[in-house]
Amino acid sequence: MKDMNALEAIRTRRSTRVMKDEMPPKELIEQVIEMGRLAPSGGNNQTTHMIVITNKEVMAHLAELAEEAFAAMEDSPELYKSLRNSIAASKRGGYVFHRNAPVLIVTANRKGYGNAMADSSCALENMMIAANALDLGSCWVNQLHWLDEDPKIREYLQQYGLSDEETITGGLILGYGIDGLPVRTELPHPGNPVTWVE
Ligand SMILES: Cc1cc2nc3c(=O)[nH]c(=O)nc-3n(C[C@H](O)[C@H](O)[C@H](O)COP(=O)(O)O)c2cc1C
Repeated sequence: MKDMNALEAIRTRRSTRVMKDEMPPKELIEQVIEMGRLAPSGGNNQTTHMIVITNKEVMAHLAELAEEAFAAMEDSPELYKSLRNSIAASKRGGYVFHRNAPVLIVTANRKGYGNAMADSSCALENMMIAANALDLGSCWVNQLHWLDEDPKIREYLQQYGLSDEETITGGLILGYGIDGLPVRTELPHPGNPVTWVE
């Protein structure tokens, strides 16, 4: 969609979970990342680190490591639903947390930094909105954040730039939706209550 303004890009952003194999042009990926880099950060710290993975072998190995880690976890009703889903899917086998999207952006930030999650979330949201404005689908994938302390995942990502001083804060998949466009169907939003005091 050409000439999408900021309000429209925010209003129509949805999670796109099924993506084509096709790799978006690097310039488009770079534009999305640039919008993430321009996100605000506490004290203007600018410490959100984006590890951009487009290499199929690395993607496949990360999926295997995540599946192995989740499969080894014990399920419990006390765990949150999405983590339980990842555990169950991994125990069944064939679980690919990044859904074979062409691009995975892993975000990391300084360990022990109070705004690590908030700053990373600002960057992730900027990237999701930018992706939509550029006709790219995106979806936050949180599995590597949950597995932040998994030694095999940390060791593997360290070869690709993750520092010992960083915690994995989130992830984003990026690519073309199955019909070439991002999911944009309206989702009802009955939540997020607003209280006005006038
Ligand atoms: C912090 C956070 C974590 C999320 N983790 C995942 C995830 O691991 N896998 C996934 O498919 N979607 C994930 N999502 C996407 C949400 O499920 C999605 O935003 C929500 O259902 C609303 O749908 P929409 O994005 O289409 O508006 C996550 C979103 C947020 C904000």
